[in-house]
Amino acid sequence: MHTKQRLVVVSNRLPYVFKRGADGRWRTEHGAGGLVSALLPVLRDRGGSWIGWPGAADTGPDLEAAVASAGAVAGFALKAVMLDARAVQDFYHGFANEIIWPLFHDLKSLCNFEPVYWRTYKEVNRKFAEAVFEDSGAADFVWVHDYHLMNVAAELRALGCRSKVGFFLHIPFPPPDIFFNLPWRLTLLNALLQYDLIGFQTMRDRRNFIQCLRELMSGVGIQGKGQVITLTADHRTVRVGSFPISIDYNAFLRQAATEEVAHRAQELHRLLPKRKLVLGVDRLDYTKGIPQRLQAFRTALERYPELRERISLIQVVVPSREEIPEYHDLKTRIEQLVGQINGNFMRPGGWVPVWYVYGSLSRNDLLAYYRAADIALITPFKDGMNLVAKEYCACSIEEDCVLILSEFAGAAAQLQRGALLVNPYDIEGVADTLHRAFTMSEEERRGRMRRLRRSIRDSDIFWWVDSFLRAAIAKDLSAFPQPEGVVAEAVPDYVPI
Ligand code: UDP
Ligand code: G6P
Repeated sequence: MHTKQRLVVVSNRLPYVFKRGADGRWRTEHGAGGLVSALLPVLRDRGGSWIGWPGAADTGPDLEAAVASAGAVAGFALKAVMLDARAVQDFYHGFANEIIWPLFHDLKSLCNFEPVYWRTYKEVNRKFAEAVFEDSGAADFVWVHDYHLMNVAAELRALGCRSKVGFFLHIPFPPPDIFFNLPWRLTLLNALLQYDLIGFQTMRDRRNFIQCLRELMSGVGIQGKGQVITLTADHRTVRVGSFPISIDYNAFLRQAATEEVAHRAQELHRLLPKRKLVLGVDRLDYTKGIPQRLQAFRTALERYPELRERISLIQVVVPSREEIPEYHDLKTRIEQLVGQINGNFMRPGGWVPVWYVYGSLSRNDLLAYYRAADIALITPFKDGMNLVAKEYCACSIEEDCVLILSEFAGAAAQLQRGALLVNPYDIEGVADTLHRAFTMSEEERRGRMRRLRRSIRDSDIFWWVDSFLRAAIAKDLSAFPQPEGVVAEAVPDYVPI
């Protein structure tokens, strides 16, 4: 086996969402979120096949053909796993997004531990396993992604599949006191042990996983130290590593440098003249800390009156999981806060403190925001990695800008030396850090951004894939370097004001 083996990527979501147009024909839109953004360049580069749900509740007979032809255009095979309305409700909205998503982001109070969700999760994972078994050969590398599909290897083994199967968790893995709330905790750990290689975003996630195993199972053995280790538990030997996911750095850089993007970025500065632009870009999600970020922005305007009329926050919110009530409520809360801040501080005919954009952006628009922004304010309560932080740095061609980043984003472990780290719950601390970024010297801004960009460039998405695939086969596991600057725990470096 070598790392150029045919890849069979399996994730809940295909890279495109299929929607039927008014004329009855299928249309495709790009799926939102980090998993799709990260894996799309990989499949385009290497080819292979991607198995997943096309995002449509309507599963008419022509959908499979529409998916296959979208694959032909994309340059790799796409295979659809169809889910009926009940499966979408109990598996996707239910088990994945009302249990695992909040629990793994340390938000136990938002979990709805409904037994039927678990039964449907197992059924749907079985369905995915059957699709993989049908569509892959012994020589392929099957790579399952994310929390929707933790049971797929167990189902594949039950079907008699003998291929090597890897798993990568894009979201954090919680510590034992949180994970143990899950009624199906032991079954799920055993299911994860059916993979040959398990990848986490950070060393902290890997440590949490191992602690959960140790506390729930007897005789867990560990061999090696470093990025990839070997674990023996319940008569299985599994490799476990931390592989911080990344972006196609050069593609972002190239596109950000185009005339079109430069022109749109200039246009933004023309519309919002004589001020620094602060940018937030997030899916509408309660893990992203958007209301608290808006409060921190308001606190900064109150504490530091010199910022008024000299700073604007552009907050882009990308629609997500709209059928789940918490997501709805969050949208209302954000819109109220934006209204309040603008109502309190806006000058008629002049300065608007918060520019709120609700919708999916085109790639060029997103890159124009990245290029135009002087400060990125990225403050999730908890995040597997946060690719927006890396994309922002890649697009900051002039290197004259500042990244403010939550210490609880996986990216903080890699970017803590160049970013200003904050605790997203500390509204006054975030406000002070915003002021610090606003007043930072050009020399410091450039020094920090250069360091950030170098680290992201040197460990891009192709580095990540290669490193994961090598970990599945390498004889010597001691030779797996982490990206430059990675630490096990990121700690903020506050300047007392
Ligand atoms: N993104 C998107 N649509 C948009 C704006 C952004 O798909 O309108 C992308 C963005 O480029 C990034 C991803 O969404 O790659 C967000 O990934 P991140 O890891 O920051 O968070 P996630 O949404 O996966 O929790
Ligand atoms: C996060 C998850 C992905 C998911 C994405 C968008 O990035 O890790 O697995 O695809 O959010 O969420 P959605 O529910 O729309 O797939």
